[in-house]
Amino acid sequence: MTTQNSNSGYADVLLGLQYGDEGKARVVDFIAPEYDIIARFNGGANAGHTIETKEGGKVALNQVPSAIFHEDKLMYIGSGCALNPVKLKIEIEKIKNLGLNLEGRLHISCQASVVQPHHMYIDAAMGGAIGSTKNGIGPCYADKANRMHRDKLLNVRTGDLNDDAEHFYRIVETNLEDAAQAFDLQIPNPNEVMAEFMEGFEYIKKYIQPDTLFLQRKVEDGAKVLFEGAQAVMLDVTKGGVPYVTSSNTIAASAYSGGDLSLNFHRKTIGVAKAIMSRVGHGPFATEFGREESEKYCMTSEGDGPKYGKAVEEKYDLDELIKSENEFEMGKALRILSGEYGTVSTRPRRIGAFDIVQLNYAVKMNDVKELIINKCDLLKEYSRTAREKIPLAVSYNLDDEEIDYVPGSVSAYYRVKPVLEYLESFSEDISGIRNYEELPQPMKNFKEEVEKLTSCKVVGVGVGPEREQFINISL
Ligand code: IMP
Repeated sequence: MTTQNSNSGYADVLLGLQYGDEGKARVVDFIAPEYDIIARFNGGANAGHTIETKEGGKVALNQVPSAIFHEDKLMYIGSGCALNPVKLKIEIEKIKNLGLNLEGRLHISCQASVVQPHHMYIDAAMGGAIGSTKNGIGPCYADKANRMHRDKLLNVRTGDLNDDAEHFYRIVETNLEDAAQAFDLQIPNPNEVMAEFMEGFEYIKKYIQPDTLFLQRKVEDGAKVLFEGAQAVMLDVTKGGVPYVTSSNTIAASAYSGGDLSLNFHRKTIGVAKAIMSRVGHGPFATEFGREESEKYCMTSEGDGPKYGKAVEEKYDLDELIKSENEFEMGKALRILSGEYGTVSTRPRRIGAFDIVQLNYAVKMNDVKELIINKCDLLKEYSRTAREKIPLAVSYNLDDEEIDYVPGSVSAYYRVKPVLEYLESFSEDISGIRNYEELPQPMKNFKEEVEKLTSCKVVGVGVGPEREQFINISL
């Protein structure tokens, strides 16, 4: 049995295949013209989706889908998201200041859980071991799973607040008071916090979509949907490097539950990866340059201000640093050259070589048929390293055994050593190239090797951050 008829639309899912920050938003922005609706299905303000355009400058989005510049497109925030009304108000105001209108375009599921003020405080106090973004996402999803404590409601949804704001504001307030006691939280002015929360909700409530079948009906009537994944496969709460993950399901299968659409409409999954990998937060990262030393270094930059952030690192002599035989130092140089620092925190991101084992795990699990590799312009920097080659992890060594899968245990994943293959590098600047044929042969070889090792077609490569710096091979 199928719900599709000949006039039905379909949905594609776009995912980050690594540890986040793969440049998903720029791909969404690029392919948005092919769709009618761009929809989010997981996460919330923990996502940082940046689009760079010549006209619009650089815009960082957190909760609003990355289709703001395409004014004929609808945008949908699904029930699987954790919605922060205070931050969404700020984001919508920022978008309006760009001269863009969201009214009639943005629809928020009435079944999305709301990030309440106590979630933010709990995350700030408890999320440090994981390196959370302190957006209250984990505590929000935890309350969603807990539902109630005795007769006290924990999970408040957008539809609840819309239906009976006064009643649910009281619940949010009680949750704040109770959490302050239970977790010994210092909340200097709870009344102000609640006032800000209510103001945020009043501002965004006109975007709440009361029809729980909104997206379903649109697709049955022919709409084409692009689901925009937040975070990435390796940060999935079940399939990622648990416990160093986000608290939502990030994989393609979850797009349909969190995005409020029957899975009968799935057409294909598109995956986005980055040629030089990065990750933020703690957790295993098999190909990280400098491994433990790098993880510790990057994580210590948190706190009152980055000790090793961009400003400090930019003072290094890059020619010397990148030639270093010490991978940790070489990794530092690659971070500087690739600008891999948190957008807001400026904390240094951990940097590593392209990992085929990890990529294959993500490709197979999500049946990815089309792959986009961003930041390929940066591969040229490997020509300045001591080895002068592009490293590629083709298998793992775990306790003296060669394996070709991602271990399920976090301690085993930390013990894994990557088995590297080295490809010929190139030194040309490819950031101005727009035609695949014009790319240097070693870049083409890299692409073909990835296709061979993943059985997945590379349909596009990013050669710079701007919208135009993209080579569409066969998207
Ligand atoms: P949370 O999602 O804020 O709970 O953070 C959990 C982990 O996921 C931390 O290591 C975060 O740095 C990471 N994380 C969350 N969102 C993103 C993202 O959009 N990009 C990259 N990492 C993320």
